Amino acid sequence: MSKESGLSQGRSYLAIPGPSVMPDSVLNAMHRAAPNIYAGELPDMMPRLMDDLRAVARTKAHAAIYIANGHGVWEAALANVVAPGDRVLVPATGRFGIGWGEMAAGLGAQVDVIDFGKRSAMDIARIAEALAADKAHEIKAVLAVHVDTSSSVRNDIAGLRAALDEVGHPALLMADCIASLGCDVFEMDAWGVDVMVTACQKGLMVPPGVGFVFFNDRAQTVRAALPRVSRYWDWEPRAQPEAFFQYFAGTAPTHHLYGLRASLDMIHAEGIENIWHRHETLARAIWAACDAWGQGGPMELNITNPAYRSHAVTALRLGAPHATRLRDWVEGNLGLTLGIGLGMAEPGDDAWHGFFRLGHMGHVNGHMIMGLLGGMEAGMHALDIPHGDGALDAAARVIAG
Ligand SMILES: Cc1ncc(COP(=O)(O)O)c(C=O)c1O
Repeated sequence: MSKESGLSQGRSYLAIPGPSVMPDSVLNAMHRAAPNIYAGELPDMMPRLMDDLRAVARTKAHAAIYIANGHGVWEAALANVVAPGDRVLVPATGRFGIGWGEMAAGLGAQVDVIDFGKRSAMDIARIAEALAADKAHEIKAVLAVHVDTSSSVRNDIAGLRAALDEVGHPALLMADCIASLGCDVFEMDAWGVDVMVTACQKGLMVPPGVGFVFFNDRAQTVRAALPRVSRYWDWEPRAQPEAFFQYFAGTAPTHHLYGLRASLDMIHAEGIENIWHRHETLARAIWAACDAWGQGGPMELNITNPAYRSHAVTALRLGAPHATRLRDWVEGNLGLTLGIGLGMAEPGDDAWHGFFRLGHMGHVNGHMIMGLLGGMEAGMHALDIPHGDGALDAAARVIAG
């Protein structure tokens, strides 16, 4: 990795799709002496914290916190509604859909995967066919990923609910919003989502370590009918605690709660609709630049149809070994870290070096995205990677409005 240009000093920029950039106000809120976990400010702040989380998820449903990453809340959600032998349907549009299905298999579920590949959104008609074919209603839940961070596809969750209703299938609609919450439009109640999982380290702008499960009364009825639920994963005491420790089934993630309080204050000050709009504009600026580069070189957006692109992450194809060379160059020379490609090729395969991703989730603004794009353009010049002209101009025009 060359440091020859001497331009890597200054504040570094982690432009990977999570963990995302952490705001100073979140970090400062966490920088404090150990708080009392038995009385006082920390236990007292929980009811409003839970309400504010629900507001971001656009739901009046129940909410449970777990000291866990995304994999942890995948398991938490499943542990409350799926028993060994139950069937679940996974419409996969990338690595994370497959991963949630693997988690369900690990809990003994029978997992039916409909794999839509790495470059397309869910085909709702095909899912509806599979549901209609399940006359005995054996499928207990559909595990859908809203934004699959590996492919950067954004799926139509409201459309999936409409398909379930049209077919008259009672399966729970479960949504992974780990990459989308606080970035892309998501409406848990209006879209009829029964269970939603997310985590703190992307749109919520908090260091990794806390995850969330939201569930409605339908899902709670399914949980109540299970023969047993593991005490640790059980969402009931967490969502209806009689004592502070029950929110977490043990010691609280003290400093994360302060960080989360600060992040929710930022989110509510900006307004969730404004946040969605900011993410959309910044994403469009990135797409405009990538389209321009692609006119004169190998740069290609992984998801071709803009209607199905995430506003939080962009997966790109640049051909091997260009993507790895570009990532190394901007990190070593500019202090800018881009995301590796995920799930597009095996790590030992030369083709792996042809994919990369940009994270543009959470605490990002116009100048950061222009800097990100300018850095990529400098890297392509330095490395003689062919690319079309006018990318920065195209992005600036989007940002100019
Ligand atoms: C959509 C999605 N689901 C699940 C996960 C897994 O989360 P974690 O890595 O925090 O376990 C991720 C992580 O990037 C993700 O983007």
